[in-house]
Amino acid sequence: MIRFDNLHKAFGTNEVLRGFSLDVHEGETMVVIGYSGSGKSVAIKHIVGLLEPDAGSVHVDGLDVATLTRQELYALRAKIGYVFQFAALFDSVTIADNVAMGLRKQGLLTEPEIAERVHEALNLVDLEDDVGTKLPAELSGGMRKRVGIARAIALRPKYLLYDEPTTGLDPVTSAIIDALMLRMQKQLGVTGIVITHDMRSAYTVGTRIAMLYEGRVQQVGTVDEIKHSTDPLVRQFVEGRAELEPVGGAGR
Ligand SMILES: Nc1ncnc2c1ncn2[C@@H]1O[C@H](COP(=O)(O)OP(=O)(O)OP(=O)(O)O)[C@@H](O)[C@H]1O
Ligand SMILES: [Mg+2]
Repeated sequence: MIRFDNLHKAFGTNEVLRGFSLDVHEGETMVVIGYSGSGKSVAIKHIVGLLEPDAGSVHVDGLDVATLTRQELYALRAKIGYVFQFAALFDSVTIADNVAMGLRKQGLLTEPEIAERVHEALNLVDLEDDVGTKLPAELSGGMRKRVGIARAIALRPKYLLYDEPTTGLDPVTSAIIDALMLRMQKQLGVTGIVITHDMRSAYTVGTRIAMLYEGRVQQVGTVDEIKHSTDPLVRQFVEGRAELEPVGGAGR
């Protein structure tokens, strides 16, 4: 389980998280929605210790991430696959080497075992083995997103964090990525957090949905509860006006 408890995080005078609390249960996919700049990426970076809280805490499987030693943090990160907002592949090495990178860093498997894992991971995201010999520049945006997911699942993580996995993709490619995320949850039993602006994707993959607003969770609920929310801020967001100015403004 991942537990955000009263998390506060500011950058200078920019108070991004102001008491963010959220529980993500085993086996569920928690979708996090919210306006651009609301702190969604900042929140999940605390899970892997890329950021440290100013106050409050993030616990993963009962461990307070900010208190871990370097070694304990590495052990924790081995359980967590992170699909970055911008696919973040290494341009100069092949797709197979990109997918293998985390496994090589861990140093637990032989090269033939790594090759088998790469094959398995590419298969799970429906990419043919010959894609492995290509360079990132030779792939479409949707394929690169899939490689990003393959790289995360190659480590067989317990948790998968997806930051905007469908942003910038056409509807057909988005639907493929949604199906993949569902497969990770249902077939591999992965617990997921998905950050997205895309409500269709949120409704497809979410077990529950949480809306982040002004540094806190405005509402968290099942897909149906969010779809039929009576909270005006949530309604405005989910009705597809996500990119407009939020009602209430600064003085809420
Ligand atoms: N390392 C950092 N240093 C300073 N400010 C930061 C840093 N990381 C994030 N911020 C600021 O924190 C705020 C929240 O950023 P964040 O990336 O979490 O937004 P987001 O909700 O993920 O937005 P988007 O939907 O556009 O990805 C922004 O104002 C951003 O400029
Ligand atoms: Mg973001």
